[in-house]
Amino acid sequence: MKEIIFPEGFIWGTTTSSYQIEGAWNEDGKGESLWDYVCHNLGIVANGDTGDVACDHYHRYREDVALMKKMGLTAYRFSMSWPRIFPTGRGKINPKGVEFYDNLVNELIKYNIEPVVTLYHWDLPLPLQNIGGWTSREVVDAYVEYAKFLFDHFGDRVKKWITFNEPQIFTVLYYSLGFFEEGVAGGFQASHLVNVAHARAVQAYRKCEYSDGIIGITLNLGTVYPKTDSDLDKQAMHILDSLNNQWYLDPVLKGFYPNEILTALRQKFEISFPEEDLSLLKSVLPLDFLGINNYSCSRVGVSKPEDLSDILSFLESHVQGIMAGEEKEEGRKYSELGWEVCPEGFYDLLIRIDKDYNHVLTYITENGIACKDNKIEDGIVQDEDRISYLQRYLEAANRAIANGVNLRGYFIWSFMDNFEWHHGYSKRFGLIRIDFETQERIWKKSAQWYREVINTNGFGMET
Ligand code: BG6
Repeated sequence: MKEIIFPEGFIWGTTTSSYQIEGAWNEDGKGESLWDYVCHNLGIVANGDTGDVACDHYHRYREDVALMKKMGLTAYRFSMSWPRIFPTGRGKINPKGVEFYDNLVNELIKYNIEPVVTLYHWDLPLPLQNIGGWTSREVVDAYVEYAKFLFDHFGDRVKKWITFNEPQIFTVLYYSLGFFEEGVAGGFQASHLVNVAHARAVQAYRKCEYSDGIIGITLNLGTVYPKTDSDLDKQAMHILDSLNNQWYLDPVLKGFYPNEILTALRQKFEISFPEEDLSLLKSVLPLDFLGINNYSCSRVGVSKPEDLSDILSFLESHVQGIMAGEEKEEGRKYSELGWEVCPEGFYDLLIRIDKDYNHVLTYITENGIACKDNKIEDGIVQDEDRISYLQRYLEAANRAIANGVNLRGYFIWSFMDNFEWHHGYSKRFGLIRIDFETQERIWKKSAQWYREVINTNGFGMET
């Protein structure tokens, strides 16, 4: 048995997001969000599920915070719903929406659970999508107004802020999948405007009355490995790494974009990255912290040099491969979603970020696994597979810390089962099971295990 112990003061949390858990989609003055629209109109979600009710957290937040307390969490990361606060995106505030988050934040603080707030986890107010979404500078202005309101109103109690959750997903990925007519070029342009919005929010936070906390951004990142040792596969690895990791890391931590991709984009599209934006990105450095979401790693290979001649087509075919379900390799383990269980990739990622980005302060803002969760004994879900995954990832994190990585906290996705975007309710990531018929909250073995981890600041692992 190996004892894995974390440094004193290490933060132990869980994560959720507004659209995925709150429900109450049209109650108390909340405006419509992009995801309300997607679920009600596009028919792309499994079983026609919607977030209309989700975990009914809007009405049950007290019960949920009490469960967090029982679990011993020292922090809870959640997102605020922009259209609950500004129903049309800007202008008039909805006092009932503000009251909900006041109550939630106060309830957390009452139990000594630190609120960690994400400003944006994909539920854009619909009227803002209708004026161009993240390809519009007007939306950036509206976001900054929303951010300022949150800092001024909640900043006395919230001391850790995350400007955006996983820009890659709601920009390049959504656009490459054809959700919006601007296509892949629009996706890259949107990812730049999100960085501009991020930098302006950081500026605003540093100028606000309660600027004694810290502000960062959460990126979805993962190590890319070549499928074989061939030069071609190594080249593919390098390109995919720039597209999936560096394109998002460099602008928020270094203030520039990887040249290779910028050149490829400029050759193909009318796309604008004005100098003054780049100066703005630089002006907020160093960023206070980086949030890392990691679930898996990728393995990439191509059969002929032409497959790499156009970086953007390469990206599109890679995205299609992911959506179709990547091929599984023998001898490797995969989650319910077909994602490889890859703790070594997690370790390599942490080491690499620490080295390439000047020992930046990091938190793992999401890590977890979807499991079948179909064995319930004595009223407890027997999810040993989840415990084993979490142990292996935490062991890797612990090794990274021992090797000097500046990692100070870990948040599991997710506190409870919830609306998993296009999978609807068919995939379960929670430590707490939700019976979506009755809204009953049921403990899983992993939640009991995590309580022990928090209690002892570590765990024992069979070697
Ligand atoms: C992360 C998101 O990408 O992964 C979460 O920040 C999401 O919101 C989680 O729920 C699991 O992924 P998916 O695609 O199964 O919902």
